[in-house]
Amino acid sequence: MSENILVAIAWPYANAEIHVGNITGSHLPGDIFARYHRLKGNRVLMVSGTDSHGTPVTLKADALNKPVEEVYKEYHNGFLDLFQQLGITYDLFTTTHTANHFRVSQSIFLALKKNGFLYTEIRPQWYSSAAGRFLPDRYIEGTCYICGTDGARSDQCDACGNVLEPEKLLNPISKSDGSTPELRDTEHFYLDLSKLEPKVADFLRARRAYMRDTVLGESLGKIESEGLKPRPITRDLDWGIPVPVDGWEEKCLYVWFEAVIGYLSAPVEWSQIVDQPEAWRDWWINPEAKAFYFIGKDNIFFHTALWPAELMGAGEQFMQIFAEEDHQTLKLPFDVPANQFMNMEAKKISGSRNWAVWGRDFLSRYDPDALRYYLTINMPENRDTDWSWSDFHARNNNELVATWGNLANRVLSLAHKHWEGHIPDPGELRPADHEIIATVEAGFESVGDLIASVKLRAALSEAIRLASEANKYLDTQAPWFEIKTDKAAAAKTIYTAMRVIDSLKVLLAPFIPFTSERLHAYLGYTEPLFGQQVVENVQDALGEHTGLRYLPDKASGHWQPSQLQPGKAFQKPEPLFKKLDVSIIDEERARMG
Ligand code: MF3
Ligand code: ZN
Repeated sequence: MSENILVAIAWPYANAEIHVGNITGSHLPGDIFARYHRLKGNRVLMVSGTDSHGTPVTLKADALNKPVEEVYKEYHNGFLDLFQQLGITYDLFTTTHTANHFRVSQSIFLALKKNGFLYTEIRPQWYSSAAGRFLPDRYIEGTCYICGTDGARSDQCDACGNVLEPEKLLNPISKSDGSTPELRDTEHFYLDLSKLEPKVADFLRARRAYMRDTVLGESLGKIESEGLKPRPITRDLDWGIPVPVDGWEEKCLYVWFEAVIGYLSAPVEWSQIVDQPEAWRDWWINPEAKAFYFIGKDNIFFHTALWPAELMGAGEQFMQIFAEEDHQTLKLPFDVPANQFMNMEAKKISGSRNWAVWGRDFLSRYDPDALRYYLTINMPENRDTDWSWSDFHARNNNELVATWGNLANRVLSLAHKHWEGHIPDPGELRPADHEIIATVEAGFESVGDLIASVKLRAALSEAIRLASEANKYLDTQAPWFEIKTDKAAAAKTIYTAMRVIDSLKVLLAPFIPFTSERLHAYLGYTEPLFGQQVVENVQDALGEHTGLRYLPDKASGHWQPSQLQPGKAFQKPEPLFKKLDVSIIDEERARMG
């Protein structure tokens, strides 16, 4: 039976280009998972968008001395370009700056308010008398009052990962002009997370059997030891979503409060684009649907506590406000498989110090599957991992080129030459032939189960292990000798190997879709494995915006063993991967820092 799966991926801030750490943290694991489920024949909706509001974006606009609208659009367009080049197949990649997102976010706010989970309070916040304005969140840096590290932002400390209460920050300094701010009273709406704490804890306990330990530790573990405190969800800012309460229009919703709501508003927008305005309910209301959230570890609190609290707190009120319907509630996350971080040559990635590999820059010199492969085999699923150029080089040449690429290329070339571009007829297969076919075909279950439980590194290792088994089979049979002495035996070997390669192509397709798609065409298939991506203009009441869309085609549902038939025509192959010269290691290291 086909399942409905929402693949929800963290919304990147429009304040920096995307680097390999961001890619391996969320976009790539989400894409692999989505592609697998599409091949399985499940109904996938994969969404995200540009996180366009909040102080990360306004600070960047200040630094560039450009209007913030211009800045968020520039980064947004860069993201669209990267995802197309890298094959990150969003069904919709939108932005938080749309009228639709405003409406959905304001409806969640009003539902929480109606249900009694919001209250207002006047509390002191950092204020700059020179600038005549409040300085929320990232406008202030100082010393973390929990771990004592300098350079903590007033709302979150990167060193200890804690979400902070801004007014408690020690030695506060304004990011804009280096001045020392003062505390001044201001009124805000607070989300009463302490009231929602029992529900959030129950939600997490119900998922304890399968959520990652790293995620449970940062969520349930913390809630059990420290509890959840009310948090302000409005800000003294003029860029963002206005607070939908009379007299409050000058203040905005807190960026985290509304950005997570994008997981709901993007499906609503997608439904409008595909002209099935109610389709989003198949993922959001349908009790059988499952939602998976792909994020980095610094986002765990917001996805395992804040977002479920918003959903549970809004309850049935949301659908009453949004659609005038009774007794409908929204689906909670099924899993939040957050990743740890990837370091760069043994040091923490830092965009500002150029200690990073940027996605689009990388793709100007290398192929997308080389990146996807390395980032998956080295994905920080359970602990931080390290990007090293020498490891990238070695894995590209030894695993992608030698183990997999050469296997496919050798077999297809030999077959093309000796059987005039047609798949040889093997007659009766031998025990060794049956054995390798069975070994590789078992991968549809083993690799599939690993992907479905979001163990993507292990899944890719398993697929590559199966390719090594195919190499062993080939080395034992040695068809290049068989051809000279016994062409009928060679036909059995080549047919078997082609069938195995045809299956391996599918097992590897979620990870390295570009080369699987090429191999699929070499093998004589005319329908592609996956659909196409396009950038489109989307009309919205706030104006036109661009969005990236994935156009699924009829070719999905291909997660099954090869049915390759003897006699079928196929093409002469080209090498799937490029062998990299050892000199790239030093060249690339020299580029950094
Ligand atoms: N923009 C945030 C970051 O880059 C992630 C937001 S995820 C969302 O860390 F769901 F809230 F949008
Ligand atoms: Zn800290």
